[in-house]
Amino acid sequence: MAVPVQAQGAPPLPSGSITPEKVREGIDLDINGERFRHTGDPKMPLLWYLRDVLQLTGTKYAGEHGSGNGADLVLVNGKLTPATAVTLEDLHGGKEGKTEKVPKVVTVEGLADATGKLHPLQQAFIDEDAIGCGYCTPGWLMAGKDLLDRKRNPSDDDIDQLPNLCRCGCQTRVRRAIKRAAGVIGGTK
Ligand code: FES
Repeated sequence: MAVPVQAQGAPPLPSGSITPEKVREGIDLDINGERFRHTGDPKMPLLWYLRDVLQLTGTKYAGEHGSGNGADLVLVNGKLTPATAVTLEDLHGGKEGKTEKVPKVVTVEGLADATGKLHPLQQAFIDEDAIGCGYCTPGWLMAGKDLLDRKRNPSDDDIDQLPNLCRCGCQTRVRRAIKRAAGVIGGTK
């Protein structure tokens, strides 16, 4: 039950009145452009928050320490980050270095534009049939976006160095898809 809060200097609360509560402490997050406040365990991994709380199930589990296969990759403040390995508290600089800045998280669900039009990478994965079972695909899309944001025309080598693994053997088609998306974004396709 909520404990009534007595504001400093205020007269005593009449019985039976609405019980004011202090603003609940929490961790503020911006996920795909929407604001959320997590008031549960600050040590909850970002992955569980995305999947279990927000039902954003595109991001996948990638092993105990994160990114065993890259399926859990998301962008946090524009940086490729394994969602399994970071907690919500980490996103705010951890216990010690707490920052008031609201971290911006982009998941695969945030890649399409506001009208629902797919990101060129998503379309290229479809066009190049670069999806097998699909488990690894969200991670490739996020790592691919990060790569294309840094490099306009990535080489096969650049793509092979991404921290992703496709157990269905789609690597060759993934390379083609990322290069096709690079062409679309650069205006040559
Ligand atoms: S499509 Fe199945 S693991 Fe990559």
